[in-house]
Amino acid sequence: MAFLLRISRTASLSLKPLLILSLLVFLLTLVSQARTHPHVTNDAFTGTHAFILPSSSDSRSPCPALNTLANHGYLPRDGKNITPSHLVHALKSAYGATTPLAWVLTYGGYFLLRNPPPPASLPSLSPSSLSLSLSSLSHLAHVAKSLPTLRKVLAPLDLSDLALHNHIEHDASLAHSNAPPHSLYAPVSTNHTLLDQLFAFATPNDTFTLSSIARARVLREYQSNHSIDPFHAEVARGEVALVLGIFGSALTDTGNINAGIDMPLFRTWFADNRLPAGWAPKHAQTLLGTVEISKAIRGVMERIGRGGVREAPGVHVVEKERDRPAPIIASPLANVSVSSSSTVSITSNVSAVSANPNLSKAEALFPLYAVDVQDKIVASIWGAGQLVE
Ligand code: HEM
Repeated sequence: MAFLLRISRTASLSLKPLLILSLLVFLLTLVSQARTHPHVTNDAFTGTHAFILPSSSDSRSPCPALNTLANHGYLPRDGKNITPSHLVHALKSAYGATTPLAWVLTYGGYFLLRNPPPPASLPSLSPSSLSLSLSSLSHLAHVAKSLPTLRKVLAPLDLSDLALHNHIEHDASLAHSNAPPHSLYAPVSTNHTLLDQLFAFATPNDTFTLSSIARARVLREYQSNHSIDPFHAEVARGEVALVLGIFGSALTDTGNINAGIDMPLFRTWFADNRLPAGWAPKHAQTLLGTVEISKAIRGVMERIGRGGVREAPGVHVVEKERDRPAPIIASPLANVSVSSSSTVSITSNVSAVSANPNLSKAEALFPLYAVDVQDKIVASIWGAGQLVE
């Protein structure tokens, strides 16, 4: 017994400095945490999902949804090295996306980013155009050979990679300026003039409805001189369909179209990339539900008609763009050989590299081609086997 008492006394004596040391380390950690994250706020979530503003070295995208996920720690807060499984998990837990929706968004997103962007218009599939000649087959083989491997497609991404123009990123965004001519990347930062224009479509009840979204999209397409191609117009409708579905006030994945989204929530999310205090998904957002909303937006846009909205209520400051030369785009088609009679040329990427620090990484994956190269290659695959000049 005495032996046991001696042991416990020795233990408590040797534990005391250890306890004091641990307390000190704990306090120091708290102080250093407060130093490294000076923007921690208390009124959103606490702990792991507290809202923290990004620092200047953090990576962010033109997508408000993904920036929000990083600002709340559902994705790495620095926005870097994001794996597909990380993104799937974040979309499900923060936005209530079902597994099929999260998979389509994630794997579809990685695929679009790491592959040639879809051609502006698909070639017509007339019987004559389907007869593939030997030369077009050899082009097809080259294209297939130069497609990135699955490992490259699914490699982790930084959020800023997503600004790669005309892959997922597109013209006529609601709150982002179009990619400047000859630029590989579109701006990541929000254009606050466009944002004010977007918010001007709110209803008098301070909600943002499907009709608000449809009118805002018609206006942005008009202001961008309809430079958005049909594929990306569909992507753009999908983006806002997701917003209506996830934040819509109803308890279903298609929401209540007339009810819309509360403006304070919509404003905070779009402008600050922040979720409201106490946020939790109200329902499971499905793939089919999102497609339904997207179709409904398309229907309203078609009823309004091209150019049917030329300014936002009470906002007259945003000008329509003039016609712009096609921007340069990045593609993995570097190994495609084009016949010497063709005038197709590989564009220099030197100025683009210096203009965009993100490029070195993207460039390592995908060399650059002029926009028309891909159209010509597609034409040669689907067409009569000749590169049409
Ligand atoms: C719940 C999921 C998501 C929602 C609610 C959402 C919503 C949005 C919205 C509203 C925009 C339009 C921004 C604007 O017009 O200014 C946008 C843009 C964008 N999103 Fe997302 N997004 C989601 C998931 C994703 C995923 C998974 C990816 C890629 C892996 C992605 C990539 C992008 C990109 C690249 C843009 C820029 C498009 C542009 O040029 O406007 N988004 N997103």
